[in-house]
Amino acid sequence: MALRTILIHPDPRLKRAAKPVETVDKAMRRLIADMFETMYDAPGVGLAAPQIGVDARVVVMDCAPKDGPREPLTMINPEVVRTSEELNEHEEGCLSLPDVYGLVTRPTTVGVRFLDETGKLVERDFDGLWATCAQHEIDHLNGRLFIDYLGAARRMMITDRMKKLKRERAKAAAH
Ligand code: NI
Repeated sequence: MALRTILIHPDPRLKRAAKPVETVDKAMRRLIADMFETMYDAPGVGLAAPQIGVDARVVVMDCAPKDGPREPLTMINPEVVRTSEELNEHEEGCLSLPDVYGLVTRPTTVGVRFLDETGKLVERDFDGLWATCAQHEIDHLNGRLFIDYLGAARRMMITDRMKKLKRERAKAAAH
């Protein structure tokens, strides 16, 4: 297993629709292991393959309470098959947008069909933080970030802040 570098917005690899996975093989399971290691290390509750520069429809998540056992969940080629009419507002963050938070409104519950890490087709309903996270991560596979739900002015301000952060990090790495 290896820690992967998480891309920071703005980056064209975060803005494109990712490719469907055709076979769940050994290389895919290695990618998934790396994604979990990277997500837990960050730490975060979700990570999508495009965030580490991999063009594949793969998501890892773990929204279990921090003081309890881990509940790792892998979703390959996830598709939202139903959403509740009821909406929920949640303050979201993202590993590709360090220290940025914003209120996003999404359906409270969501049903998702996906392949698990063994290649088995699964359908599962999510609520609470799991529902927010699942929708946020699936958005990543479609080149969408949570700041796309915020106003244009706010989004531009955040993008400028992230550009500055990336310049500072590049400078620090050069020394
Ligand atoms: Ni994210």
